[in-house]
Amino acid sequence: MQSALDPAGGDASRIYWLTIIMTVGGTLIFLVVTTLLLYAIFAPHDRRRWLGGRQTILYGGLVFPIVTLSALLPYGLVVMRDTDVPQAGALPIEVVGEQYWWRVRYPADGEQPEVSTANEIVVPIGRSIAVSVASADVIHSFWIPNFGGKIDMIPGRINRLNFTAERPGVYRGVCAEFCGDQHARMAFDVIALEPAAFDAWRAEQEKLAREPEFPLLARGRDLFRAGGCGSCHTVRGTGANGQFGPDLTHVGSRRTIGAGQFPNNVGTLAGWIANTQHIKPGARMPSYGSLSGEDLRALAGYMESLK
Ligand code: CUA
Repeated sequence: MQSALDPAGGDASRIYWLTIIMTVGGTLIFLVVTTLLLYAIFAPHDRRRWLGGRQTILYGGLVFPIVTLSALLPYGLVVMRDTDVPQAGALPIEVVGEQYWWRVRYPADGEQPEVSTANEIVVPIGRSIAVSVASADVIHSFWIPNFGGKIDMIPGRINRLNFTAERPGVYRGVCAEFCGDQHARMAFDVIALEPAAFDAWRAEQEKLAREPEFPLLARGRDLFRAGGCGSCHTVRGTGANGQFGPDLTHVGSRRTIGAGQFPNNVGTLAGWIANTQHIKPGARMPSYGSLSGEDLRALAGYMESLK
């Protein structure tokens, strides 16, 4: 779920409370001022006289604003200062924004080798996450409302954002900067897991791609090779080592495809392969509409089997 009103991290909580205080406070003041204004216009002359009195001007017009604004300033400064900073032992994650998807890399971490994925960020709860973001083309903006503020992804520059997921769950992140035709279809999943589950996930992602278990899936793999898919996509263990598009070694393990657009299953995968440009015009991947139905099913089945 994507919501800034359901904070699951430190920054998000602070932003949430700032929003609540500002909104509720602003609304109350607006209502009081509007009521007084209407009263001043419509009340009988002798009953509204006090509104122009010295006391009203002094307390309502001077003391109240000074007290309110003087309290809000330090509060705002504290909120700005208390941003999440990376703690010792933070988990580094690199995210690159591309038109229109997210390249995600977990650099080697102690004993653990590097892991690459796309459009999905899996994090352990309770551990500080140090995200560094960059862009491969234009300016994008990395935003997970449940965890905190946005950060721009700027070509030629690395920006940093830190958060700690406080509870397990599936959250949604989006691109928050117009970056082209399919800006609105540039989302990703953030999956916060218990530390043990995260370690298990990472161990699975480190493995080479699964071997096809059925003839149909083997046919899918052969089609993947013959179709030249490997010139853009990597499937580790098969020789496909393209760098242009998302790493598909474990594409079947992801929740969604097309950068958070569709649930991940054989049907949507087949639809995506055959109609990429119809579904997401302007994406870098061409439509492979000339595949026969059976070939398409084999190819999509093979993708889905890459858990
Ligand atoms: Cu990427 Cu908007």
